[in-house]
Amino acid sequence: MSRDKVLIDKREASKLGGGQPRIDKQHQQGKLTARERITLLLDEGTFQEIGQFVEHRATTFGLEKQHFAGDGVVTGFGTIHGRLIYVFSQDFTVLGGSLSETHAAKICRIMDLAMKNGAPVIGLNDSGGARIQEGVVSLAGYADIFYRNTRASGVVPQISVIMGPCAGGAVYSPALTDFIFMVEETSYMFVTGPNVVKTVTHEEVSSEELGGAKAHAEKSGVNHFTATNDVECLKKVRDLVTYFPQNASEMAPQPQQFSFNPSKKEAIRSVLPENVNVPYDIRKVVECVIDDNSFREVQEDFAKNIVVGFARLEGRSIGIVANQPAALAGVLDIDASRKGARFVRFCDSFNIPLLVFEDVPGFLPGTDQEWRGIITHGAKLLYAFSEATVPRITVITRKAYGGAFDVMNSKNIGADMNYAWPTAEIAVMGAKGAAEIIFKREIAEAANPEEKWKEKEAEYADLFANPYRAAERGIVDDVILPEETRDKLIAAFKMLENKAETLPYKKHGNIPL
Ligand code: HXC
Repeated sequence: MSRDKVLIDKREASKLGGGQPRIDKQHQQGKLTARERITLLLDEGTFQEIGQFVEHRATTFGLEKQHFAGDGVVTGFGTIHGRLIYVFSQDFTVLGGSLSETHAAKICRIMDLAMKNGAPVIGLNDSGGARIQEGVVSLAGYADIFYRNTRASGVVPQISVIMGPCAGGAVYSPALTDFIFMVEETSYMFVTGPNVVKTVTHEEVSSEELGGAKAHAEKSGVNHFTATNDVECLKKVRDLVTYFPQNASEMAPQPQQFSFNPSKKEAIRSVLPENVNVPYDIRKVVECVIDDNSFREVQEDFAKNIVVGFARLEGRSIGIVANQPAALAGVLDIDASRKGARFVRFCDSFNIPLLVFEDVPGFLPGTDQEWRGIITHGAKLLYAFSEATVPRITVITRKAYGGAFDVMNSKNIGADMNYAWPTAEIAVMGAKGAAEIIFKREIAEAANPEEKWKEKEAEYADLFANPYRAAERGIVDDVILPEETRDKLIAAFKMLENKAETLPYKKHGNIPL
């Protein structure tokens, strides 16, 4: 046999992973194979494999007789829309995609290259966890990956795509990355599975209920993006990375084309209801301002009282953080603060300017929130905004009350430009509550306390339920009509294009975790 033929045969054998029967089983479960996934993720024909012939070195529990070229993970690089990407894709057909010492080393190699060359890492996870036969070297392999995930954090974007099991300590690699995608029905993540849960807490729960895409999208917030199948999921990943720069030293890419339907400028006028206490969907405001179809909402089913996501303004990537009056009146609570803070930090890490839409009645009161630490969690959002050095602009559409006003990217915590619509109300609290406190005695002593209260409420509202006291003090830079918003934002972000701000020297800050 010629030497070339030996190579060609070895390549072909490696491509079969754990063999045709296991590939068939993977397909029967509605899952693609590791290689099929890479083909869909990357631009056609661009994948360059690294370590195709790597094999494990284990000699126990029968593994000495089972060798698979590539050892259960396909690794390499290629491009997405012409830009370099590093990828690893676990092959469930090989020993359940379990992670051996060498499997881990292959992933680490990709991550090291990504760090040196400044390009994103995308991990396609489909694994039964630590390779049980290998014991501690497999655990050490996980730790090698966690260490690199942490080192790479804020250096290159990292995306984890969960396309099968991801359990035990294995969940901590995705948790350390920037974004998690999950596929409905075929993927799950948990620290301990349903059997252990049943033994310890006597709860009966399925894998899907405990750690499926829906559970993590709605309840835990661990999952940022859900897809119905592998193909849709990989398409979404390809789309998302177009919003990111390759690494922390680059600016986000500027795509060639964008469109903006001019009728949206008028449409924005009718989003806010006449009555200030009637909710509206802040996403309608967002849509009317940004380039057509450019909004990519992150964690859309978690902490719905805050909306975060990527969008484009004249083709440039921006990150949007917006209170959502349509959910819990847009109040800030623990989950909303955590969600907002993490998103702000991603944008700041990767030079994506921030646009904030503010309509917030304050922080959510109650023992549940206080005892679970709204003080610490709320401070996360405050810290994240205060620390961010990217261009930052706020538009106050309606309520901006109390501490929440400060937190939501106020000028005093470093926002570059703050606008308010004529409907804005900027005050310590709502007029009713304010009147009750500062005119307590007058109300109590009045012949008709109810009427007095109303009168004082109106007095307070007259003074503060508008944007002009804030504008007089320069706390907002301008009061603008809703239909002027897009043009004002485009001009302001252009003006801020070369913003250069550095933080004081420090090893790192101490965000209230
Ligand atoms: C070695 C494994 C394996 C593992 C699966 N396989 N998981 N081999 N180490 N961790 C093998 C199976 O033996 C089987 O081999 C093949 O992969 C397919 O597995 P099945 O069980 O047939 O598949 P399925 O029914 O789909 O079930 C998938 C599964 C189950 C739910 C993932 O395999 C499972 O529970 N595996 C063990 C999970 C686990 O406990 N892992 C360790 C977690 S601790 P054959 O040859 O029969 O096809 C951990 C710690 C990480 O990961 C710590 C980091 C700090």
